[in-house]
Amino acid sequence: MAAMNQGLFLAIETSCDETAVALARSDGEIVVSRVASQIELHSPYGGVVPELASRNHNTDLRPLVEACLADVGVEWSQIVAVAATSGPGLASSLLVGDTTSKAIAVALQCPFYSINHMEGHLLSPFIGTGIEIRNHIALVVSGGHTMLVHLSGIGRYQILGSTKDDAAGEAFDKVGKMLDLPYPGGPELAKRAANGNRKAYEFPRSMLDSGDFDFSFSGLKTSARYMLEKLDQPIQSTVLDDVCASFQEAIVDVLVKKLFRAAEETGCDLVSVSGGVSCNLRLRERVAAAGEAAGIEAMVPEPSYSTDNAAMIAFAAAKRAGAGFPGDSLNSDIDPNMKLA
Ligand code: KG4
Ligand code: ZN
Repeated sequence: MAAMNQGLFLAIETSCDETAVALARSDGEIVVSRVASQIELHSPYGGVVPELASRNHNTDLRPLVEACLADVGVEWSQIVAVAATSGPGLASSLLVGDTTSKAIAVALQCPFYSINHMEGHLLSPFIGTGIEIRNHIALVVSGGHTMLVHLSGIGRYQILGSTKDDAAGEAFDKVGKMLDLPYPGGPELAKRAANGNRKAYEFPRSMLDSGDFDFSFSGLKTSARYMLEKLDQPIQSTVLDDVCASFQEAIVDVLVKKLFRAAEETGCDLVSVSGGVSCNLRLRERVAAAGEAAGIEAMVPEPSYSTDNAAMIAFAAAKRAGAGFPGDSLNSDIDPNMKLA
C-alpha cells in the first residue's frame, strides 16, 4: 500500500451507470479504486435506465466510500480534497456524486474539485506510470464520445475533431444489440471478433479521407443492418464471428489512422487512447503497431482505468491541484453536456 504520510484526494464518479470511489495521493498515485457496476440492474432493459441508475447510486455510494476508506485503513482526517464528476453524463446520476462530494467537503472543511469526466479519461493513460503529462495527441473513445484532442498541458486542451453522429462505443453497443449479443454489446462483440475473419465482410470507413479529424459511425451501423438482412437466418456462429471481426476492424481502422495522422500533422511524438473502447484488444494491438512503425510512443490506460472509474477523477483532481488550479465553488452546478474545451 502506498505510504500515506501525505494528504489524500477522495473522488466520486457517478456520471452514468457505475458507482465509483477512489483515493489518490496528491502526486496522483492511486491508493484504492472501487467500482460497483450496475450492469445486472440495466441488463433486462438493454440500456441504462436513468432513474434506476441514480437511485442505485444513492443507495450504493455511502457504503462504497466507507469500504474504500476501510480497505486501506484511511481516516477521514487524512483527506485534504474531495472531487466529483460534474459532467458530462446523466443529470440525475451526476447529482448524486456531485452533491455527496460537496457535502463531504463541507464536513471536512476542504477544497472541492468539479471534474469533467472526459478530462478523467484523457489523463487516465498516465495513471501509475510515473510519466510526466506532456504535449501529445489523445484519442478519447467511450460510449458517449469520440474525440481527438491536442493536449499541451493540464487544462490546455484543443479539440481537433469529434464524431458527427454516434460515438464509437455507441456503434459497438448498437450493432451488438442488432446481433442479439448480451448487454453491453461492445465487449461482447469484441469477444466474438477475436475468433472471426476481419476481411470476410466489407464495411465502410466513413470520413477516413475527409481531410479533417472528425468521425462518423452511423453509416457503419446502417450497413451492418443491411448486411444482417441478407444473411441466412439463424446466423451461424462462425458467420457471426466474421461479421463482428469485420465490423470491429472498420471502426479500429478509422480511429488508428486518424489518430496517427493528427500526431504527424502536429509533430507530436506521443499519442494516447482512453475511454471504455480503449479496452478493445484489437484497437490496442493496432495502436501499438502503428506507434512502432511511426516511431511515436503510444500509451493506453490499464483496462480497469479504461472503463468508467473514480481513479481517473482522483488523478485529474490531484494533477489540477498540482498545476495550481484552485478548488471549485460549492455552488457550482452539474452540466450533463459539459464541454472539455
Ligand atoms: O468510458 P465508458 O466506460 O463509459 C462512457 O463514458 O461512455 O465506455 C463505455 C463504452 C461502451 O460503449 C462499451 O461497449 C465500450 O465502452 N467498450 C468496448 C469494449 N469494452 C467497453 N467497446 C469495444 N471493445 C471493448 N472491449
Ligand atoms: Zn466514461
